[in-house]
Amino acid sequence: MYLFGKSNVGKSSFVNTMTCRKNFARSSNTPGKTRQINFYNIDDKFYFVDLPGYGFSKMSKEEKIISGNYIEEYLQKRENISLIIFLLDIRHNPTSDDMLMYDYILRSNLPFIVITNKADKIAITKVDDEVKRIKNSLGISYSTILPFSSERKIYTDKIWKEIDTIIE
Ligand code: GTP
Ligand code: MG
Repeated sequence: MYLFGKSNVGKSSFVNTMTCRKNFARSSNTPGKTRQINFYNIDDKFYFVDLPGYGFSKMSKEEKIISGNYIEEYLQKRENISLIIFLLDIRHNPTSDDMLMYDYILRSNLPFIVITNKADKIAITKVDDEVKRIKNSLGISYSTILPFSSERKIYTDKIWKEIDTIIE
């Protein structure tokens, strides 16, 4: 399972929360924390692959090119990818980088789910509407899109259920 999403969206935190570990994957409030590709073995069943985020403004031009290349490269090694977990911030519309990433994902034809993170930052009564808004801006009607909050550790059950169905 490959985690894609812009820098600081919460990919590393997602790994920690979903596995109930505190510092399994290193997270940070400084964007660009994850600089390497890290594999986390989950019960010998699959790996969470925590990737460096894109759209990190302090990235040099070279780093941006490298990150663009690794994304394409990884999506081509498709036999190793059982699921793409695409993280977005529930508060914002997808950025142009997000849309580019989303386009890569669609073209890869690999299974994916969209996770809208940081749901704790908005009122719980607004979660459904914001998820719908993001769904509309992505233009998807067929794929799974779920809210999440690493901070509050909510909605993890629904996401595990989805992951379990896909890996079975
Ligand atoms: P890169 O490694 O730079 O690509 O970032 P990342 O996507 O791995 O983000 P990371 O998990 O390091 O989290 C970035 C910041 O967002 C940290 O300060 C986290 O504590 C915070 N964060 C992550 N998830 C949530 C969430 O659900 N709610 C809130 N409020 N903060 C979150
Ligand atoms: Mg990270």
